[in-house]
Order: sequence, then C-alpha cells, then structure tokens
Amino acid sequence: MSQRYYIVGNWKMNGMRAALSEARAIDRAAQRLPKVEVAIAPPVTLIAAMRESSTGIGVGAQNCHHAEKGAHTGDLSAPMLREAGADFVIVGHSERRADHHETNEQVKAKAEAAQAVDMGVILCVGESEAERDSGEAEEVVARQLAASLPETAQRLSVAYEPIWAIGTGRVPQVSDVAAMHKRLRAVLTDKYAEEGADVRILYGGSVKGENAEELLAVAEVGGALVGGASLTADGFVPIIAAAA
Ligand code: G3H
Repeated sequence: MSQRYYIVGNWKMNGMRAALSEARAIDRAAQRLPKVEVAIAPPVTLIAAMRESSTGIGVGAQNCHHAEKGAHTGDLSAPMLREAGADFVIVGHSERRADHHETNEQVKAKAEAAQAVDMGVILCVGESEAERDSGEAEEVVARQLAASLPETAQRLSVAYEPIWAIGTGRVPQVSDVAAMHKRLRAVLTDKYAEEGADVRILYGGSVKGENAEELLAVAEVGGALVGGASLTADGFVPIIAAAA
C-alpha cells in the first residue's frame, strides 16, 4: 500500500482542557514523523481548541447526527462539527452501536452526512466475542460493513475493531487480523471497484507501543484506531513511531 499509515486517537469521553498539553506534545512528535498521518478525535468540547493549538495533526469528532439541522436535542450535525474545526468523524463505533442502539442504516446516513460537507469518515465495524468463538466473525463483520457503507468512497476509511479487544489488552492473532482485513477489502472493492482498493482499513483494539509494529505489518492494515493509549504522548507517540 503506497498511502501513509493513518494513526488515529479516539479519546472517547476523556479529556478536559488540561489534556491539550498532551495533544500538543503528540502534535510536535507527529511533525517530526511526516511519513505518518496522525489525527485525534477528542470530545467535542475540545475540538476547536485542539484545532487551534495543534497544526500538524487532524482533529475529528466521534459521532455526528445524520441530519443537517432540526429538532434533535443534544445532537450535533456534520456541518456544525466541521465549523467547529473537525475535519473527519468516526461513525459506527461499537460503543455507540451498543449505547445508542445505532443501526447500520443510521451509520451509513451519518457517513454520507459527513461526506456531504467534505469531512473524512472512519467507519467502524467489529464482532463480539461470541461471534468470534462461533467462527462467524468474518461473515458477520463483512455483512455489517456492506450494510453500513456510504454510496461513495470519498474520504472514507474503515476501522476493524473486534469488540472483545477494545480496552481489554487482548488482541486477535495476527493471522485473524490478516484474514479479516482481506475479507473487508473484498467488500470494499465489490462496492467501489478500484476505488475500494484505496480505502484504508485501520485495526483497533488494545493497540499499544509494544504491539503496533506487528499489527501494522499485517497485509491490508493501513493504520490504527487507538483508544486508551492515545490519551497521552507517552502512550501514543511510540505507536506513531512504529508506523514511520
Ligand atoms: O476507538 C478505539 C478503540 O475502541 C480501541 O480502544 O485502544 O482502548 O482498546 P483501545
């Protein structure tokens, strides 16, 4: 793959203003490693400030509503997030699918809403532990992806995140990551023909400095979506360095 690795930190519901110093340290390191594309999705409350203080990294949102505006108390639209300084949005994270009962159809609509205002999209998919144990993981995740994909591949990335690997310190066998990414690539090329070959497929789930190099070396792994380890420069910079 000729594209740069894409290393994205998902801060989830973590980070007060004091955490901007970590983002600045990550930004400085990222500027020394230009072969890697680095981004952080902080809580919405920090998007504008992070955008202003960190110039070498992408800044994104963790979710958006599919509508442009309207009577949706507490929600934020893609144009609002873009205006606040987000240049991409994560959609379909398993925590949102679980906590907010988001469906594949809604995830698709959110992705298309973000694309409509020229934001990048990171679309997440992944299997549960029971689905992995029953041998159905590839089938389940391939179906989930096919049903969640937006109509075009414009600024699209996909993140494969086995739910059982998120925040647990457990990672799949490298051979399982390779098989899943190969399968997801086939879904992408079925949908978008040759453009599907350029969509980066990130791996997410307990990525750390210690395992990043091995995971990034897997065929069809185009980057990483990192939760816990992205909250500090000490945790995130070694992962960025592993991609350089
Ligand atoms: O979006 C990020 C993932 O859910 C991974 O989280 O690195 O804390 O396991 P984690």
